[in-house]
Amino acid sequence: MQVDHEKRSVEIEKQMKMLEHNMKLIKHKIAVMSGKGGVGKTTVAVNLAMGFKLMGYSSAILDADVTGPDVPLMLGLEGRRIELTGPFGMMPVLHESGIKVMSLAFLLQTPDTPVIWRGPLKTTVIRQFLAEVYWDQLDFLVIDLPPGTADEPMSVGQLIPDLDGVVIVTTPQDVALLDVRKSIGMARIMNVPVLGIIENMSGLIFKCPNCGKETEIDLFGKGGGEKVAKEMSIPFLGQLPIDVRIPEGSDKGNPFVIKDPDSPAAKAFMSIVKKLETAVEGAKQ
Ligand SMILES: Nc1ncnc2c1ncn2[C@@H]1O[C@H](COP(=O)(O)OP(=O)(O)O)[C@@H](O)[C@H]1O
Ligand SMILES: [Mg+2]
Repeated sequence: MQVDHEKRSVEIEKQMKMLEHNMKLIKHKIAVMSGKGGVGKTTVAVNLAMGFKLMGYSSAILDADVTGPDVPLMLGLEGRRIELTGPFGMMPVLHESGIKVMSLAFLLQTPDTPVIWRGPLKTTVIRQFLAEVYWDQLDFLVIDLPPGTADEPMSVGQLIPDLDGVVIVTTPQDVALLDVRKSIGMARIMNVPVLGIIENMSGLIFKCPNCGKETEIDLFGKGGGEKVAKEMSIPFLGQLPIDVRIPEGSDKGNPFVIKDPDSPAAKAFMSIVKKLETAVEGAKQ
């Protein structure tokens, strides 16, 4: 028992050294979190990685939602499989845009295989993804987290001490906003900077099927995200409207910043990407 325990500690120590080396090669690490599920975290994370790429940076995305890995679907990479080992470690899947992608889904037998793991195992897999994936030199690594304040955000915060910070996604409803405060609280306890809040599904862009005219409808309310940001003294990054083209595209693996770059949502999103670029580049000068 004692020997097993010692062997394991040596292994973890070796992995932590690899992780440190890997993370040093990546200039900026940004995690996307939220209090609730279904608010658009993965949509934001995927388009953020894509947005940085569109700006000329090298970027990658790590799907750290271990029990609900949706990133491959949103990038049209469902069904792709990778080898666990290779001369340089695990090779991430390369999306046609050039961004590197890693997800537990690439290691599962079928997309329907449920992942039923307790906390320590989730931490182990995240540590392995950070340490053993051949990320190489990168400008940006975006990390998509599951909702809430459980094991995965905690592991990411602990394993990456130089994380640039977290972006918090919310919808305008009060229930979502209530949970935002918990996410901010967690980041503060862990000493992780909060880069800002994005209010998603803020107003609906509706295109009339008869006349083709586009109008904006205030569906779930607006402005709650900005109010919480002000209240908690953190930056407000912007609002994204509800747009039916977003789920249409993401189900087919087409992130909206690439598929509909002239849509109000894509324009609003790119201005958020620029704000984040300014924030993290400014902080690391
Ligand atoms: N602004 C938006 N307009 C319309 N649909 C959206 C928008 N943002 C996200 N969605 C859709 O909502 C669903 C949940 O989004 P997702 O990114 O998976 O949320 P989370 O990762 O927080 O659970 C997806 O089908 C996505 O396409
Ligand atoms: Mg998600």
